[in-house]
Amino acid sequence: MDRYIKLIDKLYQKHTLSDAEWTSLIASRTPELSEYLFSLARDVRERYYGKDIYVRGLIEFSNYCKNDCLYCGIRRSNRNVHRYRLEEDMILSCCREGYELGFRTFVLQSGEDASYTEDRLANLIRKIRRNFPDCAITLSVGEWERSSYQAFFDAGADRYLLRHETYNDKHYSMLHPASLSAKKRRQCLWELKEIGYQVGTGFMVGAPFQTAQLLSEDMLFLEELNPQMVGIGPFIPHHNTPFKDEAAGTLELTLFLLGCIRLMLPKVLLPSTTALGTIHPKGRELGILSGANVVMPNLSPTEVRKDYLLYDNKICTGDESAQCRRCLEQRMESIGYRIVTARGDSLNI
Ligand code: 5AD
Ligand code: FES
Repeated sequence: MDRYIKLIDKLYQKHTLSDAEWTSLIASRTPELSEYLFSLARDVRERYYGKDIYVRGLIEFSNYCKNDCLYCGIRRSNRNVHRYRLEEDMILSCCREGYELGFRTFVLQSGEDASYTEDRLANLIRKIRRNFPDCAITLSVGEWERSSYQAFFDAGADRYLLRHETYNDKHYSMLHPASLSAKKRRQCLWELKEIGYQVGTGFMVGAPFQTAQLLSEDMLFLEELNPQMVGIGPFIPHHNTPFKDEAAGTLELTLFLLGCIRLMLPKVLLPSTTALGTIHPKGRELGILSGANVVMPNLSPTEVRKDYLLYDNKICTGDESAQCRRCLEQRMESIGYRIVTARGDSLNI
């Protein structure tokens, strides 16, 4: 026990652990260690961000995807998905609605939809940039050539989310089709950083075949990349994927890792994700109490929400944007935090 308290103290003071230390800390966590970790994580988060919680409005603008990731509900070979693609005007009206609700960051997310070409996406970004000059534009649209990333940046995008999913090559290949690789994924992340994006990465907790050793590699990669944002959430099986019978990731391990990430990267932006809210009714509140400081409610039109299901039982698929906004405000207030109307740029620069 003492040995692990010391590891948490080291993480708090030095913001780094060795591979062996990470593996043993993750494998040996207990409820008592977690409580200690969370109290330090809250302390660190409040030092930099106070009780402020940033909101990002998520617009899921297309669920077409050319990829076939084994865990994902909108993978290409899932023929049961009703595919949709939002028109530009519809996306802009989601932004308008979001702006009026106090959002100053829009996250544009989609599958890797080949009909959204570089030009089309860059035009969309330019329009949003012109209409909402005081807002941050975050992209979450997968792997592209460096020149496309540059074109989106030049068009006005500020931030990019691309989870590395898992650092380990072999583990990566157990979760993805052969056309995708961990190396390529990481290359994209480094390119995004070089271009000047504020970059977010992350992984699923409890993904099939994941071990404490593999999570240790993920933590070391996060330290090396030093991203502005880290998104983690539990893996949740989707009934139309090859992983339909795999166990979901746990609340407990997700919270533990959120606390660890807060101590390792004190100023990082850390969302309490929808997947966390899906596996437990108070998951997002508990995420905040473990060191997270961002929530990402959905701004997609209600008609399409039930078609953007990466995993089963996703929450908020029947709710209007305004309902989610109010719901989260109340949830955050219930634990002593407040949602702020601000771009919420990362202090981790
Ligand atoms: N459960 C939880 N998270 C998932 N993602 C994809 N499929 C699932 C699932 N079944 C995550 C991936 C991806 C992000 C957009 O959603 O990590 O990067
Ligand atoms: Fe959508 Fe609670 S956040 S209903």
